[in-house]
Amino acid sequence: MSLSVAKEKTNFKMDTSVVRPTAMHENRKIVFDTKDLNLWYGSTHALKDINLSVYEKEVTAIIGPSGCGKSTYLKTLNRMVELVPSVHTSGIITYNGREILSKNFKVEELRTSVGMVFQKPNPFPKSIYDNIAYGPRIHGIRNKKILDEIVEKSLRGAFIWDEVKDRLKENAYGLSGGQQQRLCIARTLAIEPDVILMDEPTSALDPKSTHKIEDLIQELKQDYSIIIVTHNMQQAARISDRTAFFLNGEVVEYDKTDTIFTNPSDRRTEDYISGRFG
Ligand SMILES: Nc1ncnc2c1ncn2[C@@H]1O[C@H](COP(=O)(O)OP(=O)(O)O)[C@@H](O)[C@H]1O
Ligand SMILES: [Mg+2]
Repeated sequence: MSLSVAKEKTNFKMDTSVVRPTAMHENRKIVFDTKDLNLWYGSTHALKDINLSVYEKEVTAIIGPSGCGKSTYLKTLNRMVELVPSVHTSGIITYNGREILSKNFKVEELRTSVGMVFQKPNPFPKSIYDNIAYGPRIHGIRNKKILDEIVEKSLRGAFIWDEVKDRLKENAYGLSGGQQQRLCIARTLAIEPDVILMDEPTSALDPKSTHKIEDLIQELKQDYSIIIVTHNMQQAARISDRTAFFLNGEVVEYDKTDTIFTNPSDRRTEDYISGRFG
């Protein structure tokens, strides 16, 4: 049984949230569509009237100064933000046409389709092999041969197989920071997601490891939709197709990356990308 079959068999209760036709734009499918999203942490208004469409198999970069709501927005897309008790939201986010903020949408289902990679590599204190096999095992896969296949495929997919294939039983903590981050990406790939969220995935890494992850992202977008928060504007310019500039909880401008960096329409975008603040 492959993981896809296992995922289907996992028997998620059919959700009864509103289903909308999958939106298209410029012949590209919209994976995540955000309409008038507001989010508060208690009385802190962290996201204000966000409207943003994320396209399938593109790299979407989110840039903006510290505290402007980038991580909050990312964590709203997989509903991780709900872990904060004081959070409340208004507005609509659809994932492939289905409203995810609705209570009827099973969060477990969302998390198997929308993987996340964090700023600081966070492998489990387990072997390299077990880090990757963890998700598939949760999905009920016990067959050693299938697990072996998933582990190899995921590690290859994250460009780290050759570096670890002879030490799969060793603890993941023995890897370098850059390797740990690629391992975490491999762990995400092992659950066969559709979207990968990345929150400043290279900010704790040296330039060489950063370069490897950037190359990897270019490969991954053939198969996945990627949303990456980065405070590194050169990185956004290098690897993304579209860029959203956040400021004080608002989206100031969202456009093709080339346009944002060469011909922005808002003065504040221009000031930010030319380094006048932030
Ligand atoms: N768990 C939380 N509880 C209360 N306020 C928070 C929490 N997380 C973030 N915030 C606030 O929300 C705003 C946006 O934060 P964040 O999304 O982390 O910004 P960024 O990722 O752009 O640096 C900030 O004002 C921050 O202080
Ligand atoms: Mg952040």
